Parts: sequence; structure tokens; C-alpha cells
Amino acid sequence: MNENVYSRIFSRRIVPLVSFDDVSQAIPLADALLAGGFDSVEVTFRTTAAAAAIAAIARERPQMLVGAGTVLTVANLEAAISAGAKFAVAPGFNPKIVAAAQARGLPFLPGVATPTEVEAALDAGLTSLKFFPAAPMGGVKFLSAIYAPYRHTGVKFLATGGVSASNLAEWLSCPAVGAVGGSWLASHDDLAAARWDAIAAKCAEAARIAASI
Ligand code: 3PG
Repeated sequence: MNENVYSRIFSRRIVPLVSFDDVSQAIPLADALLAGGFDSVEVTFRTTAAAAAIAAIARERPQMLVGAGTVLTVANLEAAISAGAKFAVAPGFNPKIVAAAQARGLPFLPGVATPTEVEAALDAGLTSLKFFPAAPMGGVKFLSAIYAPYRHTGVKFLATGGVSASNLAEWLSCPAVGAVGGSWLASHDDLAAARWDAIAAKCAEAARIAASI
């Protein structure tokens, strides 16, 4: 089950990331992502609407793989699980959250940005990791250098932070990158203005780029 979740994240290659101001945005956003060709989404716990939005998507659009992002506390993790999240992601590596996710059987991708953090994650039995913040840390060149000594472990990265249509092809061509995530597909402004067609169009463009790699 967990292996299926990881392989679904990596086989889709792109995980749209969204922060909801209001739960009423959840289903129109899910429909825009589906229309644009994506059936997974990371809903961040940066806003108080996160848990209700995850619950709405899990309930009303069960074909979507909905996960929780910016999971900074065990309380965030518990709220995500109760809401029906199928996976969780964090910007950093917090051993307490890793242990809680493993105890609950929830696929969890902690954030790493250094070899030491990669090794902490491997030591915890994790090989699916978020690389964050991907572009400011040094982009594909930096990640490729980190990947070299760990490639044989089977580690794969969900690269996020500064990914956009303009650098998507470069990221997806990098052997270390299982998938990328990012907020460029569903920006705060597009959500606030209910520009669902524009979001679907950005998704379709990204899906075309991913298919061309
Ligand atoms: C994350 O939490 O992964 C990042 O905030 C996403 O970064 P982006 O907004 O540059 O896509």
C-alpha cells in the first residue's frame, strides 16, 4: 500500500502544491487539477483550512491522491491522517514526525538538503525524500552531487522550492528526481480569483513538458 503511494507520486512526476485560504476552494481546485491531467495534490498546513480541504477532497474526489504538506508537528500529522491524507511531506527532517508517521503507517517524505540529512533519513528506513529548497540550494547541479554517493541506496527525491514551467524539463531530466512539486501550478492569486481554467491550463502545459522528457 505504502509502496504504491510512493510509486504513484513518482510515476506522476509532478505534485501540485496548494495552500487554501478557504475550504470552498478545495473541490474546484481538485477539478482544475484533474482537468489539467493531475490526480495528486499536496495541501499545506500553512493555513487553517488545510485539514478541512484534505477531508473534502478525500471524500468528494476519491480518485485523487491527496497528501498533507508543511507538516511541522505531530499534531499536524494527526490532523492530516484524520482528514484522510494518503501521504505527508515536510520541509525538514524531524525525527519525531518520522517516527509518528511510521507508527501510523503513513507514507512520509521529510525534507532534506544535505548529505547528513540524507543519511539520517536512510537510517530511519526512508528512501523517498523531499529535496528542499531545490532551486536556492543549488539546483540540479547540487542535487546531482548529493545523489552520487547515495544512488545505490535507491533514494529518490521530490524536488520542491523554485520549480516552475521554465525549469521543469531540467529537473525532470535529473536522475535523482523522482518527481517535482510546487506552487506555480495553483498560485495564491489564481486561487483567490477562482481562475480554475488558468490553473488547468498551467497543469496541461506542465503535463506536456513532463511527457516530452
Ligand atoms: C514547498 O513547501 O515545497 C515550497 O514552498 C514550494 O516551493 P514553491 O512555492 O517555490 O513552489
